[in-house]
Amino acid sequence: MLRFHHPDALRVWRASLDRSRRVAVVPTMGYLHAGHVTLLEEARRRVPPEQGEVVLTIFVNPTQFGPNEDLDRYPRDLEGDLRKAGAAGVDAVFVPEHPDVMYPARWTWVTVDALSRGLCGASRPDHFRGVCTILCKLWNLIQPDIAVFGEKDYQQLAIVRRMHADLFLSGEVVSMPIVREADGLAMSSRNARLDPAQRSAAVAVPRFLAEVSRRFAAGERAREALLAGADAALHPGRIDYVELVDAASLAPVDLVSAPALVALAVHFGDVRLIDNTVLVPPVAGAPQSV
Ligand code: PAJ
Repeated sequence: MLRFHHPDALRVWRASLDRSRRVAVVPTMGYLHAGHVTLLEEARRRVPPEQGEVVLTIFVNPTQFGPNEDLDRYPRDLEGDLRKAGAAGVDAVFVPEHPDVMYPARWTWVTVDALSRGLCGASRPDHFRGVCTILCKLWNLIQPDIAVFGEKDYQQLAIVRRMHADLFLSGEVVSMPIVREADGLAMSSRNARLDPAQRSAAVAVPRFLAEVSRRFAAGERAREALLAGADAALHPGRIDYVELVDAASLAPVDLVSAPALVALAVHFGDVRLIDNTVLVPPVAGAPQSV
């Protein structure tokens, strides 16, 4: 596995590849878990070794963290990550040696307007600006044919798709479903920061989403009824938001008539967890499953 620590070295390597080689990239902040691994495996499946290269990027991107967020406490384990990357068949890993090599100056930013304002954007105002800016830099360095993202970060994925189309970025954006622990908790690098009591309380998050899906399957379409009881259900978690939005525009929805996203962010202690599920109304006239 090749390892690059500076953007210049990565760019030189990319330029040296034969034009017939395809490149798939999986951007991460490291501390890899099984969710990240499915992205790497999908990248490898779409770009097998005889056709091209799979690149993993590991960078705890400072500009997507707010002043009182967990940048300094974000978990890291480079050796473990390299082992998992090797097992998933990754060809090259980019680990910037210092944040400054990715940010010669913090003057140039990439923002995607409307989609970044609600949900996580409401309590993390500069978060998606940081995400888009680092991804745009990585896109320019790597010029991927495929970039793989997880549906766990649904709003991030929607914003990345918008940026990709609006800025004519290379290749194709591919997404993969949420990978969960046995009890339903969505895998996240931040789960490692939950203490045992918080970890058991956090199972309330997927349970609440499952309850909303049940209400929806039973015919409920109204926002208030779908989201009712969130406070009690998520206690002792501290809710940042629980929202029902259009799955494409992310605009709030009162009555579900098209695919809708239930998205939430909940704090357990100082650990902020996000999760989501999509509600898809059955197509009129199509056979109903019971
Ligand atoms: P990170 O949180 O490390 O996530 C990297 C990728 O893994 C994202 O596309 C995310 O959606 C996906 N992922 C995380 N948990 C997952 C799960 N349980 N199931 C499926 N996919 C999962 O997201 C970021 O890093 C950063 O914002 C980044 C895009 C790298 C920009 O800095």
